[in-house]
Amino acid sequence: MSHGPSASGGAALKGGHHGSGDPHVPVFTGETRTKLDDLVTRYPNKQAALLPALWMLQDARGWVSEEGMAEVAQMLDLTPAYVQGVVTFYTMYHQHPVGKYFIQVCTTSPCGVCGAEDVVKAFLDKTGCGELGVTSPDGKFTVIEVECLGACGFATPVMVNADFLESVTPETVPDVLKRYG
Ligand code: FES
Repeated sequence: MSHGPSASGGAALKGGHHGSGDPHVPVFTGETRTKLDDLVTRYPNKQAALLPALWMLQDARGWVSEEGMAEVAQMLDLTPAYVQGVVTFYTMYHQHPVGKYFIQVCTTSPCGVCGAEDVVKAFLDKTGCGELGVTSPDGKFTVIEVECLGACGFATPVMVNADFLESVTPETVPDVLKRYG
């Protein structure tokens, strides 16, 4: 199984990150609106474009706020409650601001027995996050534990945004972080 870095090559989530206290700036304007309109034509109805529309929102803002959900709902003629139901169902959507680099470490048993917890500790320590789910003071990193990433033979597998990294150890964590500094 090959899990080299993705085509995004360590690209960060794109700009526009802001905290929950900032006013919502509409995402679906100009080019992004055109992209969404094009996307909708490829689906049988507007509702079917909900997941990619939410992905576009998260890509632009770094997370999915309530105001963002309302904007998507309006774009796709859905109710905000319906959109919220979908967002809360899928773990891939961030419902709170996260760091520019979102680090997911598999700690399910097969990786756990190979030392995944030590990898998590090294990430929390070296990023300055300190705790799971807490963003580092410089806003760069958020670390979470996740269930099996499907690379059990390559403990410890880690995802940094869209990049898939294999065989990460506490010793290689500083090198990993350097790539995203
Ligand atoms: S248990 Fe970690 S990738 Fe499967």
